[in-house]
Amino acid sequence: MQLEISARSSLCLIIGDPVSHSLSPAMHNAAYAAGRLPFVMTGAHVRAEGLTDAIKGMRALGIRGLAVTMPHKVAIMELLDAVDPVAATIGAVNTVVNENGKLTGYNTDWLGILRPLERRTSLKGKRVALLGAGGAAQAALYACSTQGASVAIFNRSLDKAESIATRFDASVHPLENTEELSAFDIIINTTSVGMAPDIDASPIPQSALSRNQTIFETIYAPITTTLLTMSERVGATTISGHEMFLEQGVAQFQLHTGVKAPREEMEKIVRSSLGA
Ligand code: ATR
Repeated sequence: MQLEISARSSLCLIIGDPVSHSLSPAMHNAAYAAGRLPFVMTGAHVRAEGLTDAIKGMRALGIRGLAVTMPHKVAIMELLDAVDPVAATIGAVNTVVNENGKLTGYNTDWLGILRPLERRTSLKGKRVALLGAGGAAQAALYACSTQGASVAIFNRSLDKAESIATRFDASVHPLENTEELSAFDIIINTTSVGMAPDIDASPIPQSALSRNQTIFETIYAPITTTLLTMSERVGATTISGHEMFLEQGVAQFQLHTGVKAPREEMEKIVRSSLGA
């Protein structure tokens, strides 16, 4: 299906630094085309010092929506007219919607963690080990804690883990304590260890994994990381990072357009863009 662009098309942008690698325009444009919606998305390279002007520009140009990526997810919050309570609790915005000049910030990253997990298992009463303490970890911590799981954060820097743990009563452990991981039902990797080009690396060894665990990788390039390969080898249930990217995008599409997202079309383009 061809995307039809006219002077009446609603414009959405992904803003970030860097931004040129982003798969969001390909995914959203495929979805607009599938739904025959008068929307178009492209990218804008916005540096930290240009964010305030970018938001003024959004107002002046009547840009309909933003997808927000690093390093703007926290700084953008104070520039908006409203922030959704969930985004405020997580402390980050990855989606902005312009409703007749009123800019509201949302967070859909946590749904990128929740949806793939709830398709496989219930989180209620589960023990979750969260590897990492950055932005993705905060979204995962919110998703798991609000669904009744208990969360333990394993991170290289304990002070960073402690600063996010207190809000949700999570425990904090050094990342190197991998022998403790066998006690967990679900392990979610939000560290950048294993990301291209360092594709042979894994944040934890295979000996920490077992077949009754669910291993959720949030890295999507490569689509099969060393951690996922090791998890498959021991027979664990695996969730690939492209699912998180897809599900945050599905929810984002719905906020931008107001209609249900064509999930299958979106998954197809994400998988083919990642060479799967
Ligand atoms: P994001 O917002 O995408 O989650 P981030 O904020 O840069 O990314 O967080 C990256 C995470 O990967 C952090 O938890 C970081 O650990 P520190 O808090 O100790 O910095 C973790 N990380 C990055 N490189 C790492 C490495 N070589 N070994 C262990 N952890 C690493």
